[in-house]
Amino acid sequence: MITLLAIDDDPRSLALTAATVEQEGLEVLTCEDPEQALCIVRQRLPRIVICDLVMPKLSGLEVLRLVSAIDPSIEVILLTAHYSAETAVEAIRNGAYDYLTKPVDPDRLRARVDELVAEGRRRQRAGRLDDELVETHQFHGMIGRSPGMIDVFARIRRIAPHYQTVLITGATGTGKELVARALHNLSPAAQGHFVVCNCAALPEALIESELFGYARGAFTGATLDKPGLFEHANNGTLLLDEIGEMPPAAQAKVLRVIQHHELQRVGSPIPKKINVRVIAATHRDLRRMVAEQRFREDLLYRLTMVELQLPPLSARREDLPLLIRHFVSLFSRQYQKKLSGLTTRAETVLLNHPWPGNVRELENAIGSAAMMAERPLIDVGDLPGQFQGQTAAAAESHQPEEVLISLDEAQRRHALRVIRELAGDKAAAARVLGVSRATLYRIVGRKPGQ
Ligand SMILES: Nc1ncnc2c1ncn2[C@@H]1O[C@H](COP(=O)(O)OP(=O)(O)OP(=O)(O)O)[C@@H](O)[C@H]1O
Ligand SMILES: [Mg+2]
Repeated sequence: MITLLAIDDDPRSLALTAATVEQEGLEVLTCEDPEQALCIVRQRLPRIVICDLVMPKLSGLEVLRLVSAIDPSIEVILLTAHYSAETAVEAIRNGAYDYLTKPVDPDRLRARVDELVAEGRRRQRAGRLDDELVETHQFHGMIGRSPGMIDVFARIRRIAPHYQTVLITGATGTGKELVARALHNLSPAAQGHFVVCNCAALPEALIESELFGYARGAFTGATLDKPGLFEHANNGTLLLDEIGEMPPAAQAKVLRVIQHHELQRVGSPIPKKINVRVIAATHRDLRRMVAEQRFREDLLYRLTMVELQLPPLSARREDLPLLIRHFVSLFSRQYQKKLSGLTTRAETVLLNHPWPGNVRELENAIGSAAMMAERPLIDVGDLPGQFQGQTAAAAESHQPEEVLISLDEAQRRHALRVIRELAGDKAAAARVLGVSRATLYRIVGRKPGQ
């Protein structure tokens, strides 16, 4: 159901408008008081507003401005009994969809509403399809439809039932931890724990006691026996995240656990049997580290028996629209906001960004924008600072131009663009266009039917 709100202080004219636009699938609300109407706009978020221009409390132009501030995607049609080219220009410049004179030509009003209803339906359909697309391209919390990600999903499925060790490589934020969780969840060890050790976050002196545990008296302060992360992960999976940062001594011990399925707590001579699947992840080039003697070659060989490489987001840009949609719904729920998407400008900016920080960077950008957004559509201004500079140029150059319009309409739009470019200076715009001011007014403020 698409909602339309008609606002007019004259009840007869209001009833006439409502009767004119009435059609199946369109809910028509009416209101004689513009201030009250704004509350309705806020609550019901109609797709279309038809508003009288001259009203006692608020003018139609003010209503247009306030409605756009609530949600710039709401289309406003203004009606007036007193046609003026000046007001027409102002209305269109402020984003009115159309400006019609009273008595309203019912066919024309109906045609304009039909266009908007069709566009609203198309968007609803597209939104539903997008949600379905996200749903069907979801794999254990990972979104992707690019050949690169489909290959990753297929490999996870094949590896999960059998692996003992896997190496996941990929730049920061490409989803290494998500892949590790998917591998665990699809493996026969899914009932066991999934334990994460972030090797980069542990001081070198602590890493061995963290991983392997320690025996009482192993060092000062070791007053009790303590199991390590490997033992916590027994019969489950241990993720050694950032394994490139692991000191060589610990690397040797990890290799021993992988090869012989046994470990010794620090300070204990007794070996313990252990059954753990090990997933290692890194954004580093371990082969180069081996060449530089910073990583053990034998451990590298063992780990690379099964290797999963995650492509950077820049190599799978076709995933961007789905990921954007996914994060908008995610943060919409998280912040309890009714976010429906991004403005075309904002989407263009995101689609053109190089994403060096990959999916994590995208997630952070949308998370922050979702927090800032005061309207259902996230706009460029809501995005974090580093996206602000890229806006206008990128958006303008990629905005698809609508070409199937009449010459008159093209002329009107071009004239409006020139006026906008010159910050509203119509005399200057007329000079640039090489027409008189009167002609300019005629072009931009063409009366209905002319
Ligand atoms: N394909 C994806 N679909 C949905 N969300 C994703 C996807 N890939 C990554 N994410 C999200 O992006 C964020 C980063 O993912 P993750 O922590 O798995 O990356 P990482 O490669 O381990 O990064 P780092 O190297 O920075 O640790 C997470 O919040 C994760 O949920
Ligand atoms: Mg990680």
